[in-house]
Amino acid sequence: MKNMTQPNTIHYELNAGVFNWELAPGKTIEAWGFNQQVPGPVLKARRGDTLVVKVKNNLDEPTLVHWHGIRLPASMDGTGEMQKPIAPGEEFEYRFVVPDAGTFWYHSHANETVQMERGMYGALVVTDEQDPATDGERVFLVDDMKLSADHSFTKPGWFIPRMVERHDGREGNTLLLNGKELPILDMAAGQTERWRFINAASARYFVLHLGGREFRIIGTDGGLLESPRTVTEALIIPGERLDIVAGPFEAGELFSIESLPYNRKTFVKAKRQSFGMIQVGEPKPSVAFIPDTLRKIMPLALPDATVTRKVKFSVEASLKNGMDFLVNNDMHVNDKPVRVGELQVWEVSNASGMDHPFHLHGFFFQVIEENGKAPGFLAWKDTYNLPPKSTVKIAWLPDNRPGIWMYHCHILEHHEAGMMANFEVIDGTTSPVETTQTSGHHCHR
Ligand code: C2O
Ligand code: CU
Repeated sequence: MKNMTQPNTIHYELNAGVFNWELAPGKTIEAWGFNQQVPGPVLKARRGDTLVVKVKNNLDEPTLVHWHGIRLPASMDGTGEMQKPIAPGEEFEYRFVVPDAGTFWYHSHANETVQMERGMYGALVVTDEQDPATDGERVFLVDDMKLSADHSFTKPGWFIPRMVERHDGREGNTLLLNGKELPILDMAAGQTERWRFINAASARYFVLHLGGREFRIIGTDGGLLESPRTVTEALIIPGERLDIVAGPFEAGELFSIESLPYNRKTFVKAKRQSFGMIQVGEPKPSVAFIPDTLRKIMPLALPDATVTRKVKFSVEASLKNGMDFLVNNDMHVNDKPVRVGELQVWEVSNASGMDHPFHLHGFFFQVIEENGKAPGFLAWKDTYNLPPKSTVKIAWLPDNRPGIWMYHCHILEHHEAGMMANFEVIDGTTSPVETTQTSGHHCHR
């Protein structure tokens, strides 16, 4: 019998490949994904376990797998900076401890605007004894695909549509919940479930709405909040996770898991759209108990902490590309190193006229100030929305995991177009690796 408190080593195999995937009856696409399914399998572990994931690449092009939100060693982060891409026919073994409980995900980190778009992502759920008791759990990966009438993937050919896609990011006409179009899901009346949402879309902002019903937010990127927050809607930006408690509902209820429109100042305007339906059946007994205090989060810094770095996202017209997506006025940037143990207080601003989801690899941060105001509650984040002309102050601590890390906009088209930076975490005794690469060739591909 397994000792419940001892960490385990858990082995998984992910085979990246091309296969037919049915989104809806009669609607089959040629997907790229893991283990012949979209999303890939849900990987599960308990906090403290070691995950060993063998990734085999059966695609015709190289790939990498990034473990979004996991505080792992830089060499396991799945970026082109730290790892040679896995060539067609080859395999790579990722091995790391999962130190935090929460909702995480894995996705391709090579040629993402193609590989992720076609389905190369999945959830990674890490549980813990501290998790509140619920009657069940579901993972919901939200995505969209842009398909032509014959269900093949399309990229715009003409200049104007191409520029719209570069500017807005690709939003698709086919809305997916766990790889299916408008699934109808059953749930028992009287029960309370934990739903783990992950926004895996390239660019779509998802405003979770359950037809006006209240739900409780209990967690986000880096695990539980301090206390549940009761709402009727919640924004989930690309890359972000949101854990909610849903229910209890009454027998016979039928409602949508939908997204309300969010205006992120794109050319194409968002609409209210349904991603799936919940059909509430006969009642079942409940054991759920959601305490008012979920955990304690220690603040990392005060709102007036001295800024150690400024990061500015902006968008500029360009003769060559139509539009450039910039970090500190440059594309595919090599940012200055940080030292292990030195508290980072970054002022992250968005000088552009549209929203960008800021994502930091490998470390959680706390937002300590937003547009001059202290935030209403504490949370551990790795992905945070920057509305137009906004400024946030984030605090994070580089622990002893030296190597090259990165931050970028999680709208995949913006990341690809330059809105990203690498930086090194140095252990305080060594000097930084030469960063002589010129911008451009040293990016995320
Ligand atoms: Cu989920 Cu580099 O990102
Ligand atoms: Cu962006």
